[in-house]
Amino acid sequence: MRGLKDKVVIVTGAAGGIGKATALRFAEEGANIVVADFVDGSGTVQEVEAKGQKAIYVQTDVTKIESAQAMVAKAIEVFGRVDVLINNAGITKDAMMKKMAKEAFDAVIAVNLTGVFNCTSAVLPNMLENKSGVVLTTSSIVGIYGNIGQTNYAASKWGVIGMTKSWAKEMAKNGLRFNCVAPGFIGTDMVKKIPMEVLQEKILVKVPAGRLGEPEEIAAAFAFLASDDAKFINGAVLSVDGAATI
Ligand code: CAA
Ligand code: NAI
Repeated sequence: MRGLKDKVVIVTGAAGGIGKATALRFAEEGANIVVADFVDGSGTVQEVEAKGQKAIYVQTDVTKIESAQAMVAKAIEVFGRVDVLINNAGITKDAMMKKMAKEAFDAVIAVNLTGVFNCTSAVLPNMLENKSGVVLTTSSIVGIYGNIGQTNYAASKWGVIGMTKSWAKEMAKNGLRFNCVAPGFIGTDMVKKIPMEVLQEKILVKVPAGRLGEPEEIAAAFAFLASDDAKFINGAVLSVDGAATI
């Protein structure tokens, strides 16, 4: 990919799943990585270093703006700047609407929506000063089409699309780009929580590709959208879902 070598890339939720695969893909492209996660991300750091790139782990709770700001400050202290932010940390707390507790709604919004606001607001001063930067966010097909049992999650994943489009309109003139990737069902710990019969009989049967996606297939979309090949793509949502949504 053009233009990723020596870039400083923050990936939230990079201790595992899609975030880890994304950190490793950017390392393969020659970038240096900030692994920002609530849980220990030192395994991802070691794998990035094994690819010959630099990486740090900064323990981060994206729901707290002070934590997001401290993480970005550490990134700038160590690497001097931030070129790319990938807002990827996310959680589910699924329940039918009639059974969904207010706490489950608030918890998902706090990570998946407020967390994206917090981290983006924390990187903006540096990106605006540099007159360059890319902010990419993991939305979901659930954000665009809704899903049974996911009122809270769908609201958060639709919400990040609205924020992304607003930011593109506000700050394209400053040299900044904002885009979302909307994955289908990807084989990570998040999907392991779906009851097996629901996954097999209600979800996978509707995916023309007939399989779960792989974290690396989402990482590839992020690498493209962060690269110079995507330099006129701003405010877009790229679906990566094995035709699940057509
Ligand atoms: N799609 C279609 N049908 C679904 C469904 C889904 N996602 N989830 C549940 N159903 C169906 C069940 O098969 C069941 O159907 P029948 O009445 O015909 O048997 C009915 O809805 C009721 O389901 P449950 O008996 O399981 O009801 P429950 O109250 O015990 O549990 C639930 C409800 C917590 C929502 C549980 O069904 C569940 O976890 N479903 C999966 C929800 C889901 O798809 N989550 C995606 C997580 S991965 C993710 O979010 C990543 C991403 O961005 C794609
Ligand atoms: P995962 O559960 O493997 O990874 C999520 C990561 O986010 C974990 O490492 C977790 O510690 C971290 N995290 C959670 N709360 C945090 C917080 N408050 N602060 C910092 N980090 C926190 O899940 P997966 O699948 O890799 O998900 C990554 C993103 O992709 C999420 O935003 C998810 O909603 C999204 N997504 C996932 C899909 C899937 O099918 N797996 C499909 C569409 C979107």
